[in-house]
Amino acid sequence: MAWYKVADGLDLSESVIKKVHAGGKTICLIVHEKNVYALSAWCPHAGADLSGGWCQDEKLVCPYHRYSYDLQTGRGAPGQNDYVTVYPVRNEPDGVYIEVKSWLEGVKRIFK
Ligand code: FES
Repeated sequence: MAWYKVADGLDLSESVIKKVHAGGKTICLIVHEKNVYALSAWCPHAGADLSGGWCQDEKLVCPYHRYSYDLQTGRGAPGQNDYVTVYPVRNEPDGVYIEVKSWLEGVKRIFK
């Protein structure tokens, strides 16, 4: 696993949804109500770019068909039967870091 710096320090007083890249993944970096989140930017419903969406009721809403995903768990709303990947994120004084596990680490975890 590795932590990738994806942005300079964030001002938590302003809401942000920004597309960033880390470890080969495209990720939505989100500031919502003074909390920082990192979710996959790819909508599992039909592939829309979730960084064009918005936050509502602690969820990220897709701009295409309004599916929504929990900011903390990535779980889709009831009835959607889907989810988006949530990445660990740290907002440090020198920047924002997102942890992305390699493909091999994911395989190793399955066979533990
Ligand atoms: S592509 Fe995101 S809800 Fe359809």
